[in-house]
Amino acid sequence: MNPIVSDIKTIDESRQGEAFYSPDIEVINDINIKRFYIESYGCQMNFSDSEIVASILSDCKYQPTKDIEEANLILLNTCSIREKAEETIRKRLRTIDKIKLSKPGTMVGILGCMAERLKQTLLEEEKLVDLVVGPDAYRDLPNLLNQVEDGDKGINVYLSREETYADISPVRLESNGVTAFISIMRGCDNMCSFCVVPFTRGRERSRDPFTIVSEATHLFEKGFREVTLLGQNVDSYKWQHPETHESYTFARLLEEVAFVHPDLRVRFSTSHPKDMTDEVLHTMARFDNICKYIHLPVQSGSSRVLSLMNRTYDRDWYMNRVEAIRQIVPECSISSDIIAGFCTETDADHQDTLSMMSWADYCMSYMFMYSERPGTLAARKYADDIDDEVKKSRLSEIIALQNSLSREHNAKDVGKTVSVLIEGDSRKSDEEFKGRNTQNKVVVFPKVDGYNPGDYANVLITSSTSATLIGEIILT
Ligand code: SAH
Ligand code: SF4
Ligand code: F3S
Repeated sequence: MNPIVSDIKTIDESRQGEAFYSPDIEVINDINIKRFYIESYGCQMNFSDSEIVASILSDCKYQPTKDIEEANLILLNTCSIREKAEETIRKRLRTIDKIKLSKPGTMVGILGCMAERLKQTLLEEEKLVDLVVGPDAYRDLPNLLNQVEDGDKGINVYLSREETYADISPVRLESNGVTAFISIMRGCDNMCSFCVVPFTRGRERSRDPFTIVSEATHLFEKGFREVTLLGQNVDSYKWQHPETHESYTFARLLEEVAFVHPDLRVRFSTSHPKDMTDEVLHTMARFDNICKYIHLPVQSGSSRVLSLMNRTYDRDWYMNRVEAIRQIVPECSISSDIIAGFCTETDADHQDTLSMMSWADYCMSYMFMYSERPGTLAARKYADDIDDEVKKSRLSEIIALQNSLSREHNAKDVGKTVSVLIEGDSRKSDEEFKGRNTQNKVVVFPKVDGYNPGDYANVLITSSTSATLIGEIILT
């Protein structure tokens, strides 16, 4: 993945607004069948939720389509993390409005974080929106759709303390059949002062581990070879058996999923520096199939700014966690999220961020300009006082540094042979495969007979860029 400035978190920029179509669902050619079209924005959680929504809709007479023009129901699963993310949705609504005007009766729904943040006002501001559904209310969709079909508006933005959709089997949309995401928890109990997520996704709750292991097992049986366990802060996963009171930590869950099969790779995201334990690192070290990659967002390298951000760790604590990774899982690569221009950030604070990036030697980072979000702690307590021009120039320096770190990182892999899980054709050519090594680096190489997506291949790395390793299969 390229270091990019965007409104994406754990995913590739090209997937923003992706329309889903499920190969899992038999498409019935009956004109009475209603069709839904769904686009997803934001983090991987939203993409994962769209698969839950697809499952719920498929149980109530709705079939997916990738053609927006033939849809009876158009859904946007939205993100509020930065202002730009919301602007993108408003713009998209303008084109959808035209479709709706040319095809009266088409229903338009806003799902996800923007629905939760703006609630009723979204219906007032966007007249052609019929449906507003927050992240914890998707089970209510059949009922809300009935209301809309009867000519009313449908809204449910109730945030739950229990909902984990544990019993719903997600319909894998636009799947490559090799890698899948599994939500292990929802919400967030941290109150990072810049962040809207606790307001849009509610309180943290962990999903029953038995349903997680069984989902991973089913995926493996269907041919999938990699699962990524998803949560805003996976290290604070905790679950207690209601009868035996036996408790599960993230380290234990990770181990149980790793035991599903040695050929099933396990990844996870996101780790919070304040909660990441040595126990998790030891579990990673014990299992070959737990990938040696940690996304450990630092946000800022300055202890003063980290304190204003309410991240609840300082520079030394973060460095201690990176040192623990280096000691316990030496081959592990580390990536980060970085915010440029948070309230009161001085040039010295910015230099601290740059020096932290070099010291931690991130293989990749997601880098953003601070965007004030209404209602957050920072919006209430601090002025958004860094000029846009200063934010931009600091961000450019951060991006330039990350590009050179990524380039050097990848250059060091030239000459090595790495194990790659083949995910499918490369973006540029159907004569090449693309996959990733354990450190999450994208590897591209010419196809060889006998190798297919879902297979592991040993690839000798012959050259590299800042974003990609390029190589050839070593036949065994
Ligand atoms: N739970 C994850 C982050 C989820 S949000 C964690 O704690 O690491 C993804 C990223 O978006 C954050 O890590 C942060 O870098 C960025 N972000 C969140 N709010 C932001 C804001 N108001 N302005 C700019 N970037 C923001
Ligand atoms: Fe937002 Fe902080 Fe929670 Fe991450 S840990 S989702 S940045 S509040
Ligand atoms: Fe965006 Fe919501 Fe994810 S605000 S980053 S879609 S949790």
